[in-house]
Amino acid sequence: DTLVVAVDGPSGSGKSSTARGVAERLGLDYLDTGAMYRAVTWALLEAGVHVDDADAVAAAAKQVVLEIGSDPSDPTIRANGADVSGPIRGPHVTAAVSAVAAVPAVREQLVAEQRAIIAGSRGIVVEGRDIASVVAPDAAVKVYLVADAEARASRRTAELGGGDVSATRADLERRDSIDSSRTASPLRRADGAQIVDTTELSLEDVIDQIVRLAKE
Ligand code: CDP
Repeated sequence: DTLVVAVDGPSGSGKSSTARGVAERLGLDYLDTGAMYRAVTWALLEAGVHVDDADAVAAAAKQVVLEIGSDPSDPTIRANGADVSGPIRGPHVTAAVSAVAAVPAVREQLVAEQRAIIAGSRGIVVEGRDIASVVAPDAAVKVYLVADAEARASRRTAELGGGDVSATRADLERRDSIDSSRTASPLRRADGAQIVDTTELSLEDVIDQIVRLAKE
């Protein structure tokens, strides 16, 4: 059986740095499912689709071709041939992604792609919101990362190269509320997932904890 490590949690809980670090330490592939929802959102915005129109979103999403790198030291993603690794972190995509991710047909499409990537991997660390609950419920290791809203907001502001922490915090809380209240696969801790509160922990400590769980 290939080792699957599921890392779920809300925005800014440290999932990406943690998941990449764990994959590097264990020599595994890496998949950022949030980047897939972001890349589809980028392509829909490019095409002028109104993201509040669920039927239009579902239809247009089917046309989007994603190419996803699995190297944790160089995560890249392309949408319809364009490298969107940078643009998907921008404010327009961030503002629209939770609406796109709430559309059940989009989730079905991306979950199928995610399962195919996992099945083709040599062992993989997968980060997202619904990995342990929906995408890979049989994952050997399931971690649910949490952190104080203020800690999450200041980390995310630093990642974005600076800015207003309270505006970042408002955006994280807005997305958490959409992600937790949607009908399709809402954000929540899955049965059997170990909660790791990263508020007071260094990145290395969090990576160590998860690597230890994976070796048990
Ligand atoms: O980087 P951050 O934690 O802020 O978010 P992300 O992981 O890039 O995910 C962006 C958005 O995609 C989330 O706010 C969710 O709306 C959605 N998402 C999801 O619904 N399911 C996933 N497995 C991953 C992301």
